[in-house]
Amino acid sequence: MNIAIASDHAGYEMKNFIKNVLFEMGHKVIDMGTDSSCSVDYPDYAEAVAKAISEGLYERGILICGTGIGMSIVANKFKNIRAALCNDIFTAKMSRLHNNANILCIGARVIGIGVAEEIVKTWINTPFEGERHVRRLDKINLIERKVIKE
Ligand code: RB5
Repeated sequence: MNIAIASDHAGYEMKNFIKNVLFEMGHKVIDMGTDSSCSVDYPDYAEAVAKAISEGLYERGILICGTGIGMSIVANKFKNIRAALCNDIFTAKMSRLHNNANILCIGARVIGIGVAEEIVKTWINTPFEGERHVRRLDKINLIERKVIKE
């Protein structure tokens, strides 16, 4: 899978760790920054990844900031984006099964790297369940179009 990843300063170290996890799983990782622990603004990095996924350049995205909240707020402004803030394994699994989430947001100040690794592995490997959930995602798409028109 082609996976775009980005973080702000708060998520920088965890991003490097997660990049290795993804490499070891055999995925192609596109790192969209940040490149150090110097303070930056999370909207810039969320925008880069969400735009790329929204335009179909890569299949999935992972965004890491202090809590994951800022990244998820920004990412969900983009068309076709279903960004899920998951700081536990169950939520990560459900975000794929029921919501077909295409961006995973993680809070590096909330969880440790061990849990983050399991979250990422679960999120990457869990398929969308389809069936009744397709109808619900269709409704999200309709709302998205309506809101954009207004
Ligand atoms: C940065 O201090 C922090 O606000 C950011 O990483 C994130 O937690 C925002 O939601």
